[in-house]
Amino acid sequence: MADRPYRLAINGYGRIGRCLLRALAERGDATGMEVVAINDPADAAAMAHLTRHDTTHGRFPGEVALADGALEIDGRWIRLSHETDPARLPWAECGVDLVLECSGSFRDRATAEAHLTAGARRLLFSQPASSDVDVTLVRGYNQADLRRGHRIVSAASCTTNCLIPLIATLDQAFGVEHGVATTLHSAMNDQPVIDSLQSGSPRLTRSALQSMVPVDTALARGVERLMPHLAGRFECLHMRVPTINVSAMDLAVTLAQDTDAETVNAAFREAADGPLSGLFGVVDDAVASMDFNHDPRSGILDATQTRVAAGRLVKLICWFDNEWGFAHRMLDIAGDIARLDRAGGYP
Ligand SMILES: NC(=O)c1ccc[n+]([C@@H]2O[C@H](COP(=O)([O-])OP(=O)(O)OC[C@H]3O[C@@H](n4cnc5c(N)ncnc54)[C@H](OP(=O)(O)O)[C@@H]3O)[C@@H](O)[C@H]2O)c1
Repeated sequence: MADRPYRLAINGYGRIGRCLLRALAERGDATGMEVVAINDPADAAAMAHLTRHDTTHGRFPGEVALADGALEIDGRWIRLSHETDPARLPWAECGVDLVLECSGSFRDRATAEAHLTAGARRLLFSQPASSDVDVTLVRGYNQADLRRGHRIVSAASCTTNCLIPLIATLDQAFGVEHGVATTLHSAMNDQPVIDSLQSGSPRLTRSALQSMVPVDTALARGVERLMPHLAGRFECLHMRVPTINVSAMDLAVTLAQDTDAETVNAAFREAADGPLSGLFGVVDDAVASMDFNHDPRSGILDATQTRVAAGRLVKLICWFDNEWGFAHRMLDIAGDIARLDRAGGYP
């Protein structure tokens, strides 16, 4: 039984949910994981259509068919359901090992436990969850904190996955005293195409096509949760910009020692070749954001944009594919959970 593929379910088949299925397909069978069920309120035909066609990432890398309300991908069947209440999901029938919770509708432990009561063994949130989850993991920083007993896990956010390793690299090389980060983030599905009445933040009533829109962010609290030694020393802003994918982290920090741009870039090159290999990169070309579409890394430092004022105030720009990089980080964590779960044997 330990040799069977680890069985994943996706709850919420939006941008991240669909990227997860694609990213798993691109990684191939060697992951030892397969998606056996997907749940989303949308109808099955729409789910199949947006599996095949994606404006941002292109055609699906495989044959996609729909029969009897189930999705067939290269001859493998995925059960589809259309519930909004996690307690009613068919996870027990599908033998789900791990739910990838990507609906954006839930972030609390009680909802996660409803998935477990419905029959899933473990759950991974695609967003920062409430503080009582078992662990929040950022690859390149604290992935070693995962334990076999962890059943409810968060993969943090795309912005946290970019920012934390940046801060950690600077902290290790120079000591970080304070910082301010601004995410320049592509549009998301919580924004209307043109102005539209919606409840919640008034900023999210404005056209995603026509404006840069500042929105609320809890990123600074995410930094504090993962790096308690920096509590009270970081603030963050978030600006949605009218592009469909790829974001930039604009980070300014004060350091504990003097340095220059070349030395800062060298610290990142060393990290990208060492502990952050495969997760981070450094680019020296005159790039633009779309050059990183479909890039699986958590961040790519733009070395041409590094600036240092008065020796200690450092400003950086780091590109990241907010969809594709994050989907890969979720699969990395899912793979770690599967390995630990298998090592303990399935109950
Ligand atoms: N997009 C990114 O760049 C990104 C990166 C990292 C993390 N995240 C996080 O991942 C989550 C999803 O983001 P997204 O961009 O993928 O959003 P999205 O495109 O809006 O996808 C969410 C999907 O979940 C569905 N859904 C809503 N309520 C549900 C429920 N109760 N049960 C099952 N499905 C439900 C939505 O259906 P309806 O449309 O009908 O409501 C939608 O299809 C958010 O927490 C977001 O912060 C997003």
